[in-house]
Amino acid sequence: MFPDFQVIGMNLYSICMALGLTFALLFVDRVGVKRGFSLALQRGLLVAVVAAMGCGLFFATLFQAFYNWLETGVFVWQGMTFYGGFVGGAAVFLLLWFFVLGRFCKDKKEPIKQFPVIADAAAVAVPMAHGFGRLGCLFAGCCHGRIADVWYALPMRIDGEWVKAVPVQLFEAIFLFALGAALWVLLVKIPQGKRFPLLPVYAVVYGVWRFCIEYARADERGETVVAFLTPSQLTAVVLVAAGAVYFIIWYLRKRRTIMGRTEAVQAFEQGFGAKPTHLFSAAGRINVIGEHVDYCGGQVFPAALNLRCNIYAKKTEGNTVRILLKGIEGIIELDVNRLNDYRDLKYGNYQAGVAYHLQKEGTPIVGCDLYYDCTVPFGSGLSSSAAIEVATAVAFCELAGVAYDKVHLAVISQRAENEYAGVNCGIMDQFASAMGKKDHAVLLNCSTLAYEYVPLELGEYCLVVANCNKPHNLVESKYNVRRQEVETALREIRKVKEVDCLAALSVEEFNELKYLLSGVVEKRAEHVVYECDRVKKAVVALRAGDIEELGRLLNESHYSLRDLYEVTGKELDTLSELARREWACLGSRMIGAGFGGCTISIVKKSAVDGFIKRVGDAYYTTIGYRASFYQTSIEDGITVETLV
Ligand code: GLA
Repeated sequence: MFPDFQVIGMNLYSICMALGLTFALLFVDRVGVKRGFSLALQRGLLVAVVAAMGCGLFFATLFQAFYNWLETGVFVWQGMTFYGGFVGGAAVFLLLWFFVLGRFCKDKKEPIKQFPVIADAAAVAVPMAHGFGRLGCLFAGCCHGRIADVWYALPMRIDGEWVKAVPVQLFEAIFLFALGAALWVLLVKIPQGKRFPLLPVYAVVYGVWRFCIEYARADERGETVVAFLTPSQLTAVVLVAAGAVYFIIWYLRKRRTIMGRTEAVQAFEQGFGAKPTHLFSAAGRINVIGEHVDYCGGQVFPAALNLRCNIYAKKTEGNTVRILLKGIEGIIELDVNRLNDYRDLKYGNYQAGVAYHLQKEGTPIVGCDLYYDCTVPFGSGLSSSAAIEVATAVAFCELAGVAYDKVHLAVISQRAENEYAGVNCGIMDQFASAMGKKDHAVLLNCSTLAYEYVPLELGEYCLVVANCNKPHNLVESKYNVRRQEVETALREIRKVKEVDCLAALSVEEFNELKYLLSGVVEKRAEHVVYECDRVKKAVVALRAGDIEELGRLLNESHYSLRDLYEVTGKELDTLSELARREWACLGSRMIGAGFGGCTISIVKKSAVDGFIKRVGDAYYTTIGYRASFYQTSIEDGITVETLV
């Protein structure tokens, strides 16, 4: 007369386990983090989801008891033991996770604070909680003397006979702990951004495992797996399917980058009526340390980024270079015989400057169509201009079919910026843009252009690049003033000592000579000499894997740029100070010319999301507008691809 509540309950359990678990976490991850759910709410949801794993069965058995009571008049709640144990075990785990485990972590933070993206935290927490739940079942069953119910065995076929050989609860618990631990290792080792989503890994691996167990059981009971899906088999199938759906969504999002390329090709075709034949690109850059020393002959330590200037290009007949810029209306045309005439262009003057200086050196500039898709944010201090110049230089040389030396292209690009665009910059940006190497920083001596690659290996840490988004104004004129000040310092020092450049002075030599200087000139020179010293120390620290020391040097560099060189400003100071206050951050400083633009911070890989959220929110509260954080990686400087 009544439906079989036990079966309904088992299915409810399946749905709670699989759909409830995976999609609730997916929801919290996508919507919760975007909307800035508090940590407490995230914790609450995690508890709710883990509890849901046990609740389906808990209520199903309660219904069953109620139903039996209606029929027989006797109330016996059998499932209570089993599933009560399960929920109890999971609860014990959560208490451990939230309040105890952190005490044993190196940085004394509860594990979830280290992985503030709930789906990542859950990828570890859920299998662990599940494992504890299994132990809870075992324990509760033993206490009630119902060992047979909980200690029922996983059958194995031995000598053609089915033998109940393995205690299934214990076996499951061990498997789940191992899975949780393996996911934890992946979570800590692979940085956010490079990581594939871990929660579906749990769903798929556990689903497959569950299915195998259920298959073995069904086989033992003489059931055909396909003909009759037991609730547990259903759980397994739904888990695998949910994990697969998650992976597909993730993959489709990733593919958008590839789509970006298709869009650029279409824009080229629309603008110029033909397909591009080449894709040339040069990188934006960060500078690990060594700021405002390149034009003083010092050593700098930049690295090329995945944020780049991409040029889709095609050689044409004639003498016109046609340029289209993504997001800007209209084609800019340059006549290759009048390249000196474009200095005042709002857009296209960098391209004209590079063409002009290449031509002056004897490189033929051929007619061509160029479509620019620059992903280095403009005015960010990540050197969009150098990326544009270097990529343009590569495009012109490649299309003209002339051999080129990358260092030379960097020098030509710098010349274009100095003499054509009128910005008196040093060589660092163009050099990094042309010569950067994947996963390495370039230790460059700006007096001799001798360079060396040093692996940028930060162990458990990574670099986070943040833009303070201060509106830019007068940066170039202030930059040029700093150059004049250090030139004054050098002139004064040369009155008593023969030196090639300020960077050639050791800290000791400078301290003996600084009586010759005063006021801002003394402060500027002091920054240069000490910053050069810090570069050497930083390289030693990095090579020795001493990331804490590297972080300390970054902080010192920032303080010196703030107090002695005076190129920071409230926004950069706030952004780097907020970063420094974070437990996961070893050091933070402004990079580039300053007065606006970006900071870099050394942050624990596993804590990057929380770092970004907290620093971002606090910055907004203090400054009134938002900072931007970029997902960066260290890449090669120049790349050349043929598209047909
Ligand atoms: C700008 C310049 C570089 C360098 C930095 C400061 O990025 O283009 O040459 O001087 O500022 O280190």
